[in-house]
Amino acid sequence: MNDLREKFLKFFEKKGHKVLPSSSLLSSDASVLLTTAGMEQFKSYFVLEKDPIKEIGTQRVATCQKCFRTSDIEEVGDKSHLTFFEMLGNFSFGKEINDDPKNFSKKGYFKKSAICWAFEFLNQILDLNSLEVYVTVFGGEDKIPLDKESFKIWEKEIGIKKEKIILKGKEDNFWGPTGIEGPCGPTTEIYIKGIEIWNLVFNQYYQNQEKKLIPLKSPGVDTGMGLERLTMIYENKNDIFETSLFLPLIKIAEKNIPSIDLRKKRIFADHLRGISFLIADGLVPSNKEAGYILRRLIRKLVTFAFLKKLSDKIFKEGLVQVILQYKNFYPELSKNKEKILEVFFEEKKKFERTLRTSLKKIEKFKEIGAKEAFFLFETYGIPKEVLEEIVPQKIKFSSQEFEKELEKHRKISRKGSIIKFGGHGISDKFSKEEIEKITKLHTATHLLQAALRQILGNHIKQMGSDITPEKLKFDFTHPKKLNQEEIKKIEDLVNQKIEEGLKVIKKEMSYEEAVRQGALAFFKEKYPEKVSVYFIGDFSKEICAGPHIKNTSELKKFKILKEEAVSSGIRRIKATLEF
Ligand code: ALA
Repeated sequence: MNDLREKFLKFFEKKGHKVLPSSSLLSSDASVLLTTAGMEQFKSYFVLEKDPIKEIGTQRVATCQKCFRTSDIEEVGDKSHLTFFEMLGNFSFGKEINDDPKNFSKKGYFKKSAICWAFEFLNQILDLNSLEVYVTVFGGEDKIPLDKESFKIWEKEIGIKKEKIILKGKEDNFWGPTGIEGPCGPTTEIYIKGIEIWNLVFNQYYQNQEKKLIPLKSPGVDTGMGLERLTMIYENKNDIFETSLFLPLIKIAEKNIPSIDLRKKRIFADHLRGISFLIADGLVPSNKEAGYILRRLIRKLVTFAFLKKLSDKIFKEGLVQVILQYKNFYPELSKNKEKILEVFFEEKKKFERTLRTSLKKIEKFKEIGAKEAFFLFETYGIPKEVLEEIVPQKIKFSSQEFEKELEKHRKISRKGSIIKFGGHGISDKFSKEEIEKITKLHTATHLLQAALRQILGNHIKQMGSDITPEKLKFDFTHPKKLNQEEIKKIEDLVNQKIEEGLKVIKKEMSYEEAVRQGALAFFKEKYPEKVSVYFIGDFSKEICAGPHIKNTSELKKFKILKEEAVSSGIRRIKATLEF
């Protein structure tokens, strides 16, 4: 195994950077499903919402960030696409600038230092003279000017020949923002052997929700270099899966299935890395949001193993290999070793049961159209990808047709939840007094969700909620049983918020604004243009149709009655209020 990660971080440490740990793959930005770039954890520094000097003592930072991109998930299996990858990055958060590459202060820097250091680092570890190297620079588009400065630095400071500096438009050389708004700007990219290896972003703008670019008060630097791609060049390979990062996993696949084809081997290696890191960050398989991505990764491998009648050995060896290989840099892997194995095999077991029964159901269909595929998904939990895997000859629908079916269903289920809580339907079924109780329990449900997230972590996602005049039921994602101490803490926190007498305020706003303010929402749910968000002090924010009480002091005591499992990775709390 090479030590490129360490070399990179040491290099930038010497240039005055503070080396910070990777943030979690579970993004704190509600408009982003999983962390996709190194800069995400620093958004507030780029826009000067927070002062980096006060918070971390410097304007220069370097990281190796865990990233997960779903955009290429269908492509995994060729020689270069990945879901999970590591991104090496150095960052500068403006305010005071000292753009002299020989100066290693704590001040921010800009294009000259970023470009000179990138080239210096690559030159240290690679023989750049013998490699085919070219760079791209933003050539100007949509009233955003050509990046003359970068062009000049490449030509004059670094000595790259003019014909090796290629001008590109917005599509290629303008990056960001991640999520619905944020810092962004022109980029300059370094290509080696035709592969984009390093992306240097100069954050000069803030793109707001209306997609308008506003110049940033202080420009920043955000760079990203895929460790896997760098390793491929460094180890002189043409296939990412032949590098030392993947070979141990590829060998495990070959040893266990001598006849395994190339695509499957690569999927095995890619998905096992993703699965291990996602679970280590607290994710559990579910049917929603990021949890569904994890479920898909696991199910893809399990389907393959099921059809090939493989034992658990290949997965045990694979997961342990990932943990061993990465545990020094990512201690969360060894800390969560048991959990990684447990969550994986639990999901595997469950899905094998599904596969067994569903194979029988599928047999009955001669052809499977979008409607049938949706029925199989909805009723037996058989994802479309699995159908494609086990009965490809029967598939008679496109991805778009399937999406349409899903969309129809989402609309129907959303209507259902409005009727339950919306104060319309309930008036026919319940007395005034009962509605009052339901309303109180509804507000208590919001308090409970916020308390769960505060005590157990932000991985908590609502999976279901049901309220009667007697009690509330709340289902949520969490990998294990809650202990007495946790239950007590959650109960106490809700009661504390009741005692604080927090105002419950409803505000109408656009969905984007609600998400920007951190309101909890069902990801990918189709919301109307304007949504109502209920704020309970600054403790809870949720997109919700209501109804709610006006002040938490209207509630008396909150009591958790029971905590139990619904299915693997999903827990249920039953609770009530003193009336
Ligand atoms: N944030 C930039 C990227 O992800 C560096 O490519």
